[in-house]
Amino acid sequence: MKTTIISYSLSGNNKLLADQLATKLSCKHIYIKEKSKRSYLTIGMDFVFKRIPKIDFLEKEVNTEDFIIFIAPIWMSQVAFPLKKVFQKLKGKTKNYAFISACIGPQGKKSNRGLAKQLKKDLGKKPIIIIEKHLSEFLPIKSRHSIKETMKYKLKKRQAQQMAQQISRQLKQIV
Ligand SMILES: Cc1cc2nc3c(=O)[nH]c(=O)nc-3n(C[C@H](O)[C@H](O)[C@H](O)COP(=O)(O)O)c2cc1C
Repeated sequence: MKTTIISYSLSGNNKLLADQLATKLSCKHIYIKEKSKRSYLTIGMDFVFKRIPKIDFLEKEVNTEDFIIFIAPIWMSQVAFPLKKVFQKLKGKTKNYAFISACIGPQGKKSNRGLAKQLKKDLGKKPIIIIEKHLSEFLPIKSRHSIKETMKYKLKKRQAQQMAQQISRQLKQIV
């Protein structure tokens, strides 16, 4: 089965991870861009008004028979909203898919626990796996619980390569 990565990133962490994973898996990578400029304010506004942003995305570029790996940040315990537009277009069409995020994960394993339910609702099907890579792990212990510190964290290329290696091993066991 072929693999396609579809990713979105605001501050670069998930783009770096998606690029590294695409290299590792030698697969197609579709990077989603938004039509309007994104800021923390528009994240809040879209959250409050449940708005789904406009993006540049051509559905015909995706072979829905492929194993699709979605990679994006998590915002307020939800998949970053630009990917939700992709989900609208692919709902009911994907075969196997996974969701991966380089995110904060402030409460360890209990973070973002509604994701599986959300993804099932958005795509009409459960993901075969959700992998959260928590950036807090790269911070000194005393800063790990600081959301501010973690949100500022920029993933290094070497760390993203390591994450991609771990994810690729995890995926090989199940796909
Ligand atoms: C407004 C906002 C809300 C966030 N909410 C969450 C959250 O609920 N859970 C989480 O794990 N990370 C959360 N994060 C952290 C991002 O997922 C994290 O910083 C991510 O690495 C950013 O990815 P990017 O660099 O690809 O944009 C939030 C970030 C922002 C800006």
